[in-house]
Amino acid sequence: MDALLGWIEKRLPVMDAYKKHLSEYPMPKNFNFWYIFGSLAMLVLVNQLVTGIWLTMNYVPSGDGAFASVEYIMRDVDYGWLLRYMHSTGASAFFIVVYLHMFRGLIYGSYQKPRELLWLFGMLIFLVLMAEAFMGYLLPWGQMSYWGAQVIISLFGAIPVIGDDLTLWIRGDYVISGATLNRFFALHVIALPIVLLLLIVLHVLALHEVGSNNPDGIETKLPKGSKGEGYKTQFPFHKQYSGKYDVIDSIPFHPYGTVKDLVGVAVFAFLFSYVLFFNPEMGGYFLEPPNFEAANPLKTPEHIAPVWYFTPFYAILRAVPDKLLGVVAMGASIVFLFLLPWFDRCKVRSYRYRSKLHLANIIQFTISFIALGILGSLPATALYTLMAQIFSFGYFMFFILLFVYSKNEATKPLPERVTFK
Ligand code: HEM
Repeated sequence: MDALLGWIEKRLPVMDAYKKHLSEYPMPKNFNFWYIFGSLAMLVLVNQLVTGIWLTMNYVPSGDGAFASVEYIMRDVDYGWLLRYMHSTGASAFFIVVYLHMFRGLIYGSYQKPRELLWLFGMLIFLVLMAEAFMGYLLPWGQMSYWGAQVIISLFGAIPVIGDDLTLWIRGDYVISGATLNRFFALHVIALPIVLLLLIVLHVLALHEVGSNNPDGIETKLPKGSKGEGYKTQFPFHKQYSGKYDVIDSIPFHPYGTVKDLVGVAVFAFLFSYVLFFNPEMGGYFLEPPNFEAANPLKTPEHIAPVWYFTPFYAILRAVPDKLLGVVAMGASIVFLFLLPWFDRCKVRSYRYRSKLHLANIIQFTISFIALGILGSLPATALYTLMAQIFSFGYFMFFILLFVYSKNEATKPLPERVTFK
């Protein structure tokens, strides 16, 4: 066995990569529960891939067959209901986990130098994930699938000059039809998952190049005297990697990280199972009621609302009365997130050692985002539109204020070593 492994290792150093990226990966020892969401996102990804493959075995991607095939999966296919609910619950779980994962990055300044590229890959993942969820939602060919896609695709029509041709090109028809369903199916099951997987690999490689940030937002250090004078920062990471462990600020990912993440997985599985077995529609938030009715191009639902994870951005879109400017505002809300590492000019990362103003700004941003999420799922009355405008202002002000105060922010002294209680 040893000879065989040695033979493989010489030709393809799998064990070396396993140690470097997994078992011996130096994990800062002050990691808290905010650090489980990366692993959980990977778990949900596997769930989506596996249940998706099995759903595809009985799903029919055509305007005539799609809705009926989903009913068939739910009623006649052995454990088809389980596969379908695991997949639909998984979609919402993915966004819950990813939003919490991003929030962690926000409060601990994980996007700051030298982790900007890691953040950019994360944002690309977020974009692809939104496209993946949007296209997947058309596939059951229910009323909300149809009319939700109608609303979103028509947004491209607001782009001057090319708008009309672009919507025609996306739909492949003058209306949303079987042709649209077919191409969304191809993109949902093959094209986007491949891109997503590739981006996740790049995301993790970019992380492992510079090492993890941590709740204190300071670089982890090597032991005094062991490699040069004083505490030496572990960055740049790869140059220090020796395959041997220096226990000081960091501990090996296995067994410490694996056991920690398993606790997260257990709690997650508990909550996931509750939704799956007792409340799969989640009060109409995970599966919307109109989607239990087959798509009907002649009957517009009374109130069209996207699934909850899109609603903050949808609320920003609707807050602007002009269609084109609304699309621009919605696009800007994502672009600003991409540019977060450059909006923040502070040298200190974690909110723990930053000003009260920064903490207040993060709190107002969080409230604005959640409020927009609620407003985006409600009908656009005059009052709700006004509220959406106020909270959209709050959303964008987060970035503008951050840019202004972060340059000369009154920060607290940083500890020399990570704090661990
Ligand atoms: C499918 C989606 C994603 C997966 C599977 C994923 C996976 C991971 C994993 C495994 C880690 C290391 C463990 C951890 O720190 O939690 C990580 C770290 C990180 N991710 Fe993601 N991620 C995803 C999406 C995102 C998104 C959307 C963003 C932000 C735009 C993001 C930003 C970050 C940052 C900044 C770190 C480093 C955090 C730190 O060291 O403090 N990730 N990711």
